[in-house]
Amino acid sequence: MAEPGDAPLVLGIETSCDETGIGLVRRTTLLADAVASSAPEHARFGGVVPEVASRAHLEAMVPTIERACAQARVRLADVDAVAVTAGPGLTGALLVGVAAAKALALGLGIPLFGVNHLAAHVAVDQLEHGRLPEPCIALLVSGGHSSILIVPDVTADIRPLGASVDDAAGEAFDKVARVLGLPFPGGPHIDRLAAAGDAAAIGFPRSLSLPRDMIDHRFDFSFSGLKTAVARWVETRELSGTQVPVADVAASFQEAVVDVLTRKAVDACREHGVGHLLIGGGVAANSRLRALAEQRCAAAGIALRVPRPALCTDNGAMVAALGAEMLARRRSPSTLDLPADSSLPVATVPVQHVSPRPTPPT
Ligand code: KG4
Ligand code: ZN
Repeated sequence: MAEPGDAPLVLGIETSCDETGIGLVRRTTLLADAVASSAPEHARFGGVVPEVASRAHLEAMVPTIERACAQARVRLADVDAVAVTAGPGLTGALLVGVAAAKALALGLGIPLFGVNHLAAHVAVDQLEHGRLPEPCIALLVSGGHSSILIVPDVTADIRPLGASVDDAAGEAFDKVARVLGLPFPGGPHIDRLAAAGDAAAIGFPRSLSLPRDMIDHRFDFSFSGLKTAVARWVETRELSGTQVPVADVAASFQEAVVDVLTRKAVDACREHGVGHLLIGGGVAANSRLRALAEQRCAAAGIALRVPRPALCTDNGAMVAALGAEMLARRRSPSTLDLPADSSLPVATVPVQHVSPRPTPPT
């Protein structure tokens, strides 16, 4: 088997939201992970402004590529393949990454791999814990998605078992943080505050967890009602002139989210006879989610894999990790008409080309 030094050098580009991420990977070895975030530019709007994000990606692209190459002590000419997030995400933001990847592929004469952002959140774990056990169950929780997936082949076969029917888990964290007067993005602030609060102080609802929900929504989530319940609870306190116990609200809200996420993920492993659970996406950085998942997986005899927090939030290394795996498994590269698809379904792992438009009858 080839040593990491012999494995092809893959550059990954991530621009689906507000992070310009450039990663350099040889098979499962991480050489560089450079990220430029435009989050501070969006903070005063309380959410990501797509046009601002696209402009920031344009400005950050070349300096971030240079920073990654310097970190890895390689030249651009050493890169053997380029991988890029082709979707899902913000269209304008994705387009910047896809255009940059095509330019590199064309200029350097190397293969281009358009990949699915969600599959990359799964593949990134290989950089920390080695080869992915397949099949595994993946719980992906980010600002845009909350899904439970079964992954027989991370480069070609990912099947959704369930997803959020409304807000994503990270979106709920961000919205509740706003209610509590915390800065955007709110997840890390709630995580920090909750450590000083009582998670059992307020009994917030566990959505889609009733026996009747198990028929149509076995592995689905819903966080919109929970967010409203928190807002109402806080509003009632404020109207009555009572001080809001912010740490208790944060801890009780966080517990309601991670309780449902971990319960359904462990149930998915049990029901599908899969012994490995992987958690990825920005919310996987949450300390309580990590602790509860560890506890419940240990009790159920399931091996848990969660990448370190810096690899859970959006980054280029995850895209490079998936690109390297595609190269190693000899998957076909994308063609230069690779589209950016803002609503790319999770089951579309590699993105090859634009489907030809039907020719109108003459
Ligand atoms: O995966 P990601 O970086 O970007 C998307 O693809 O959305 O996830 C960002 C989300 C944000 O909603 C952020 O608040 C949340 O991840 N997040 C957290 C934590 N760190 C980031 N949520 C809860 N606890 C955290 N420690
Ligand atoms: Zn993400």
